Amino acid sequence: MAVDSQPAQTVHVPLGNRAYDVRIGAGLLRRAGAEIAPLLARPRVAVLTDETVARHHLDTLRRGLADAGVAMEALALPPGEGTKSWAQLARAVEWLLEQRVERRDMVVALGGGVIGDLAGFAAAILRRGVGFVQIPTTLLAQVDSSVGGKTGINTEQGKNLVGAFHQPRLVLADVAVLETLPARDFRAGYGEVVKYGLLGDAAFFAWLEENGPALARGDAALRQAAVCRAVQMKADIVARDETEAGERALLNLGHTFCHALEAATGYSDRLLHGEGVAIGCALAFELSQRLGLCAQEAPSRVRAHLRAMGMKTDLADIPGPLPDAEGLIALMAQDKKVQDGRLRLILARGIGQAFIAEDTDRDTLRAVLEEALAARG
Ligand code: NAD
Ligand code: GLY
Repeated sequence: MAVDSQPAQTVHVPLGNRAYDVRIGAGLLRRAGAEIAPLLARPRVAVLTDETVARHHLDTLRRGLADAGVAMEALALPPGEGTKSWAQLARAVEWLLEQRVERRDMVVALGGGVIGDLAGFAAAILRRGVGFVQIPTTLLAQVDSSVGGKTGINTEQGKNLVGAFHQPRLVLADVAVLETLPARDFRAGYGEVVKYGLLGDAAFFAWLEENGPALARGDAALRQAAVCRAVQMKADIVARDETEAGERALLNLGHTFCHALEAATGYSDRLLHGEGVAIGCALAFELSQRLGLCAQEAPSRVRAHLRAMGMKTDLADIPGPLPDAEGLIALMAQDKKVQDGRLRLILARGIGQAFIAEDTDRDTLRAVLEEALAARG
């Protein structure tokens, strides 16, 4: 199917006076002006992006905005997780002030999860809160980070420990921009897509087993369908639990393992976030099976699909040294879901049946990790 032949679809995120639409389709960047203009008090926006995304897509955005008479200034930050830092946040906020961005103006985040999280946080604290539009350019950002209003930066103490809930006013997920995304980043984002099937929709997981390979090869209609389904699931959960008082924690399936592995690998390109999510999901299903919560076939089926997609699946797929099982558990205990020192993990009773498990048995967890580490040889 030709890239532009699918009409854009809309998922509404119903959050009262913070409600917004997520528009999903091919070619939305080129139409950004028409999409964003109704939200503007005056015809100008300030765009935060990264240097790689700017090289590929900033001119298209500029033209798309200009077509609707909207002017833009842009700041391109260095690409990579290191940009989610105090230093780059200060740089972004000061630049926005220099651009005289006012309370009624709109900040635009053009990029992956790194830029979306940083720009969203900058918008949250600038003049005590200005509006922002997410234009996510990675698969991960389109299916997850651009929706739901979690924004923030990393510190030396860990990932995403400083931030704010600040909902965007609009999300434009242009699936055509994924064509320039390197294969490794695409596959990493696919880890978050699979997560949705695993946590709450067995039929979606089966659909991914059937359609995942064609989707990865570039089928725009399948990509749009997958982004729509994932965003709809996220919107439903966020509408019921905006600030993660309960159910929203399900979206963290695989993430406690992932955050420990990201810390253990120094937030480096030894392991991308979405790769850690995929490995973390496989470990969560393995642990669930060992605890007698789900059938033996479930973890094998999860791993088989991740392998078929050419993804990292096991600890053995992470290059370089890792801590021992106790060291990994200590890193897992830094997770924001820990309460009173008890490990709260997202486990599953089957594919599509995740739940929040309070106080997981540490001996079983240690045994699963020891076995996975031993397989690294
Ligand atoms: P990223 O933003 O670093 O993007 C990955 C790489 O792809 C970067 O080098 C970037 O320059 C490049 N890139 C982006 N779009 C491109 C395109 N269209 N063409 C070519 N190159 C492109 O990483 P990511 O995987 O998008 O996001 C990871 C971040 O998202 C992590 O910091 C994670 O904590 C965060 N996250 C946040 C939430 C949330 O709810 N806020 C959810 C999940 C993840
Ligand atoms: N990515 C998890 C969340 O948004 O809650």
